[in-house]
Amino acid sequence: MKDSIRHLIQQALARLTAEGVLPDGLSPAIQVENTRDKTHGDFASNIAMMLAKPAGMKPRDLAQKLIDALPTDSSVSKVEIAGPGFLNFFQNSAALAQRLDAALTDSHLCVSKTGPAQRVVVDLSSPNLAKEMHVGHLRSTIIGDAVARVLEFLGDDVIRQNHVGDWGTQFGMLLAFLEENPSAAEAELSDLEQFYRAAKQRFDESEAFAERARELVVKLQAGDADCLRLWKQFNEISLSHCQKVYDRLNVKLTPDDVKGESAYNAELGDIVHALKGKGLLSESNGAQCVFLEEFKNAEGNPLPVIVQKAGGGYLYATTDLASMRYRSQQLKADRALYFVDQRQALHFQMAFEVARRAGFVHPDMQLEHMGFGTMNGADGRPFKTRDGGTVKLVDLLDEAEQRAYSLVKGKNPELDETELRQIARAVGIGAVKYADLSKHRTSDYSFNFEQMLSFEGNTAPYLLYAYTRVASVFRKLGTDMDALSGEIHLDAEQEQALGAKLAQFSEVLNGVGEKGVPHLLCSYLYDLAGLFSSFYEHCPILTAESETVKQSRLRLAALTGKTLKQGLELLGLETLERM
Ligand code: ARG
Repeated sequence: MKDSIRHLIQQALARLTAEGVLPDGLSPAIQVENTRDKTHGDFASNIAMMLAKPAGMKPRDLAQKLIDALPTDSSVSKVEIAGPGFLNFFQNSAALAQRLDAALTDSHLCVSKTGPAQRVVVDLSSPNLAKEMHVGHLRSTIIGDAVARVLEFLGDDVIRQNHVGDWGTQFGMLLAFLEENPSAAEAELSDLEQFYRAAKQRFDESEAFAERARELVVKLQAGDADCLRLWKQFNEISLSHCQKVYDRLNVKLTPDDVKGESAYNAELGDIVHALKGKGLLSESNGAQCVFLEEFKNAEGNPLPVIVQKAGGGYLYATTDLASMRYRSQQLKADRALYFVDQRQALHFQMAFEVARRAGFVHPDMQLEHMGFGTMNGADGRPFKTRDGGTVKLVDLLDEAEQRAYSLVKGKNPELDETELRQIARAVGIGAVKYADLSKHRTSDYSFNFEQMLSFEGNTAPYLLYAYTRVASVFRKLGTDMDALSGEIHLDAEQEQALGAKLAQFSEVLNGVGEKGVPHLLCSYLYDLAGLFSSFYEHCPILTAESETVKQSRLRLAALTGKTLKQGLELLGLETLERM
C-alpha cells in the first residue's frame, strides 16, 4: 500500500512539474508512514513540506495542488491536508478487504520482495570448535537463522555459511592432549569444555607439553597426515555437538553449511600475493600489512590490517578476505550478511574495505556486518555461571525447558506426560529465542528467565498462546482455516484496525530482510495478537448477527492465525495447536 501511495505521489509530482508548478530536476525520496491515529487517515506523507521551499510555495498550498493532481485510485478513499501540510491518505476498506481475501488463499500470504530477488550469503553461528558452544554463540545463530528464513520466504536465494573457527594455535594444545591420552579421546570429548580445560592445564604446567603443542601446530599447518587425522577427529566430535544444539534450537543449519577457516587454507598465500600485486601491501616490523588511511588509531596514524605475521603465519583477517573472494567469485553472491558480535565491527569495516580495493569482490556486492550486542546477566554484566565461568548453551536450554515444564504443568495439570514435554520444549526453547529476537539487534540485553516465560507482554508464551486461541475457534467449530466461504468486510473499528495490521505483513518482512532486524517482526506479531484480542472481544464470531458477518469474521481470524503461525515459523519458533 505504501508503495502504491508513493507511486501516486510520484505521478502527481510529474504532473506538477510538467505544468511548471514545480521546478525541473527534483527527485525527492518520497516518504510514506503508517499513522498512529487512524481517525486521521491510514498513511501520511510529508512531501509537501519537503518541496515547499524549492517550489517557492507555502506547504499547505502545495499540498492542495498535489491533492488536485493525484490520480484517482480505488484503494484510496480520500486524501486530506493535516497540520503544517501533511497529506493524509485514507484507505478504502473494500479494497483493503479484497487484498486480505487474496492473502488468505495465497500460500505466501501475498508476501513479496520489494526489490529484485538476490543471492544472499548469510554468515551465522560460526563458533570456534576448540570449545563447546556457549551463550555467546546464541545470538549469531538465532538472529542469523531468522533473517535467513525471512529472506528465503521473500524469494531470495540464501546460502548459509557456518564459518567455524577450526584452525589456529589452540589446536596444537588440543592435539598434544589427544596424543597424550589416545584412549580417553571418545570419553573425554563428550564434554569439550572439560577437555579444553584439562588441555589448558597441561599447557600451563608443563613446558615440554607446551613445546609439543607448538610443534604440532606447525606440523598441522604443514599438512602432516597424523596431525590432520587427530585434528579431523576432534573437529568431527565438536561439530556433532554443535549440530545437536542447532537441531534442538530448531535452527536450519546442517553439516553442509559448514565452511570453516581451514577450508581457505590453501588460498591464503595467494591472497597475500594478490594484495602485493595491487600495491596494497607494506611491511611493518616484519609483518605484511594493508594500511588504510581512513581508519586511524588514537595518535592519528593509519591502522593496519595485518595479513601475514612476521613468522609467516596468516590471520583471521586473511581468512576473511579469502572467504569474501570465494563468496563473490564462486558463490556469485549479490549480498553477504555477517551476523557477528558488535565488537568485531572495526575488523569487518576494514576487511570489507581491503576486499573492495583489492577487487576480491564484485563492485556491486553488498557486504554488511550485522553486529549484535551482548547478552548480559541480571546484574547487567556479561552472562556467567555462579562461579564466573562461561555458560554452556546446552545447560541454558535444559533449564529453560525445565522451567517451562513446571509452568505448563502448573497451568494444565491434566495434560499427559508426552504432550507436556512437547509443550515445554516449544515454550522453553521458544522463550529463550524470542526474548533475544525481540530486542533490537545492536543493543545489549539482560537475560531473565521469569520475564521471558511470562504469559504477559511481548514474550513467546504470550504469542504461542495467542495462536492457540485462534486455533481453538476453528477447533470448536470443526472447520478448517482453509475451507471458508464468503468474503471479508471491515465494518467495526476493531475489524478495520486488525485488517490494516494484517495488510502490513509483507512490508514488515521486507524491513526485516533489508536491515537484518527480526525484532520488527516480533513487535508486529505482538501488535497483531493485541488487535486480535480486541477484535475477539468486541466482534462475536460464532454468535454473529448474520451468516455473512460470521464468515467474514472467521476469515479475518483465519488470516490472523496463518499470519501468526507463519511469522513465528520465520522466527524459528514451533507453534502449538493447544497448550
Ligand atoms: N569464529 C569467530 C568467533 O567466534 C566468528 C566468525 C564470524 N565470521 C566471520 N566470517 N568472521 O569470533
